[in-house]
This record gives sequence, C-alpha cells and structure tokens, in this order.
Amino acid sequence: MKTTDKIFDYFYEKTGIIFSEKRNIVSERIIRFASYDGYDVDTYWEKIQNNKELFQKLVNKLSVNETYFFREDRVYPVLVKKIKKKSSKVRILSLPSSTGEEPYTIAMTLFENNLQHHCDVFGCDIDTDVLNEAKKGVYRQKSLRKIDEKIESKYFLKHEGAYHLDEAIKKSVTFFQGSIFDKELLSLEKFDFIFCRNLFIYFDNSSREKAERQLFEMLKPKGVLFTGHADYPQNKVGMEKKFKNGIFYFKKQNS
Ligand SMILES: C[S@@+](CC[C@H](N)C(=O)[O-])C[C@H]1O[C@@H](n2cnc3c(N)ncnc32)[C@H](O)[C@@H]1O
Repeated sequence: MKTTDKIFDYFYEKTGIIFSEKRNIVSERIIRFASYDGYDVDTYWEKIQNNKELFQKLVNKLSVNETYFFREDRVYPVLVKKIKKKSSKVRILSLPSSTGEEPYTIAMTLFENNLQHHCDVFGCDIDTDVLNEAKKGVYRQKSLRKIDEKIESKYFLKHEGAYHLDEAIKKSVTFFQGSIFDKELLSLEKFDFIFCRNLFIYFDNSSREKAERQLFEMLKPKGVLFTGHADYPQNKVGMEKKFKNGIFYFKKQNS
C-alpha cells in the first residue's frame, strides 16, 4: 500500500472525508505539505499518527470551507416558526460552522425576530483555522453575496473593503472545535435544532450513516436536523422526514 493511501485511510477514519475523484491531486498536495514541514512522506505518515498538531494542520489544509451568509435561506422562516412554539430555552447548533456565516445567520435571524434571549447558538467545526476566523467576525464581500441590503447595513460595518460583524451578534454565538464523530459531543446538553449542511457531500454512505447516528443522539426528543439540499442523509436512524417551505428536514421521534 502506498504511503499516501495510508494517509487517506487515516484521514477518512478521523474526518469521514473520502477523496474518491481527486486522489492524485490531493496526494501531490500531501507530499508538498509534508515537505513544508521538513519531512519525506514516510516520516510524515509516522509523525501525524502521534502528533495531533501536525495532523490538525493537514485537516485545516484539506478541508473545504466554502460558505456564505443566508445560504439556502428557506430554512430560516421554518426555524423561526418552530422556535416561537417553544416555551423553554432553545439550543441551536451549526455543525459544521466553517468560518461562522451559518451560525451568525441564525443569530441575525433571531435578532430580527426578537428571539435572541430565548436561544443559545453554537458553532462547531473540525478545522481550527476557520474557527479562529469565525471568532474575528470579519468578512469579505464574497460571504455577503446573498445578504439583504437592510440586514447588511444593520449588522455590518464596512471598513477598508472588509465587513465587520456587529458585536452583539458575535457575542451571541459560542464556537468550539470538534469532529462530527467525536464521542465527547454526546456528553453535551442536547440540542433542539442542528444544522448539518454541506458536509455529507464529502462523505461516503458509511460516514453519512455514522454521522446521522451521532446527530440523532445529540438531539432532544422532537429535535430537528436541517441538512443541505445537496446532502443525502441515509436516514437509517428512522427520523421523520418532513417537507416545508421548499426544504426537507428530519424530526427525531419521541424517545
Ligand atoms: C462546505 S463547509 C459547510 C459550512 C456550512 N455548514 C454551510 O453549509 O455553508 C464544510 C465544513 O465542514 C468541516 N468538516 C469537515 N469534516 C468535518 C468533520 N468530520 N466534523 C466537523 N466538521 C467537519 C470543514 O472544516 C468545513 O468547514
């Protein structure tokens, strides 16, 4: 077995991400990353298995972080309607959050509907670089390409070509690092809503199923999982599939 194939298998085991098509290009990139750190690929393989920081660097380099504010925005009215029906504090998780556009969109939606005091919003991603960017809350125009002008002027300050997010919105989201497969996530207080969008597209069926089981466990009874329109959940966990406002979502049954 080639060393880069061993690295692919290890990467898959930890992240669920499978590089089926672009394997040759990614192999070359891995060899290049190894050389940046001063290693040939065999030494690099030995090192990443025991050196968490080195492996994290590889994860940060190979993860695809594309995101923007109000992406697939038909979900937000559905979320608002559901939150309004709740009497106790609502917990919402964006996993993966990437650079923060998704959880911050949730936060802006809550503020627009005066629901912010009623909810706690969290963002989680495997990539530590994107989480650092998320915490800064400074964006390029590309991230705001689908945002309403009124929302943009209300929650962003433009300065030297960059868009600085409003402090109250920034403070209302808590970010933490983790892989969707981390067992530690199961010891967190359960969530009412989980957004897991544009992640399953990088997974094979087996990773999707594993991830769904994990998300299912992380939801409260009657909790809701929102996936992206390009994600294909296996739904082997038996959640109730619903369709509203042009989007599919999955509801956990009473348990
Ligand atoms: C394309 S972005 C999606 C961001 C956002 N949910 C959206 O729909 O715009 C995918 C993100 O998944 C993260 N990711 C990849 N594998 C992961 C895993 N196993 N656990 C948590 N996050 C992961 C990547 O770091 C990347 O930031």
